[in-house]
Amino acid sequence: MISTPQPQPWPTRAEAVDGSDAAAVRRVNLAAFPTRNEADLVDALRTDARAWLPDSSFVAEAPDGTVAGHALLTRCHVDGVPALALAPVAVLPQWQRLGAGTSVVNAALDAAREAGEQLVLVLGHPAYYARFGFVPASGYGIKPPFEVPDEAMMALALDPGRPVPAGSIRYADAFGVEV
Ligand SMILES: CC(C)(COP(=O)(O)OP(=O)(O)OC[C@H]1O[C@@H](n2cnc3c(N)ncnc32)[C@H](O)[C@@H]1OP(=O)(O)O)[C@@H](O)C(=O)NCCC(=O)NCCS
Repeated sequence: MISTPQPQPWPTRAEAVDGSDAAAVRRVNLAAFPTRNEADLVDALRTDARAWLPDSSFVAEAPDGTVAGHALLTRCHVDGVPALALAPVAVLPQWQRLGAGTSVVNAALDAAREAGEQLVLVLGHPAYYARFGFVPASGYGIKPPFEVPDEAMMALALDPGRPVPAGSIRYADAFGVEV
């Protein structure tokens, strides 16, 4: 009988601070998305000291140790209050649907929670991000600075006991979004 590989936790780690993972991270984003926009976005964010935070870029490693998945959190604001934007999330096509994306997103969210962050925002597929606890951002009164289907703009309160700011999202300049 032929068995289908089942999704399972992948080894994850923060991207190396010495820049030695940057090329591999770029390769993952180039391969996962149809255009180079996301790869270029990551590299632009690297040069923005206000957006790029320590230990907020995470990778998932394939069995041979190569970088197979990537998730990035960068600084954004909601009504002037610091929050995090989760973008992009990418997995090499040959490793998709095997749990790498889930593992690397969980690693990034766990690190953010440990760092005392409260709010994470993501623009993406509701069916995918609901598994991490993301809910429509509109429920918190959070508004994206662009037109997007309501259910695609999602928010995660890392500590349910703390308040969540309401208002407009201001992304880092590299996202190219005017508020
Ligand atoms: C989306 C992505 C990061 C998910 O990573 P992954 O390792 O393939 O996903 P996982 O194995 O952790 O999770 C698989 C689950 O995600 C779902 N899924 C994968 N890609 C999806 C997508 N584009 N939309 C909705 N659901 C998706 C699968 O159906 C599966 O659901 P199930 O657990 O209910 O069966 C990866 O597929 C990818 O890089 N896609 C191309 C780039 C992209 O679209 N990035 C997201 C930007 S918001």
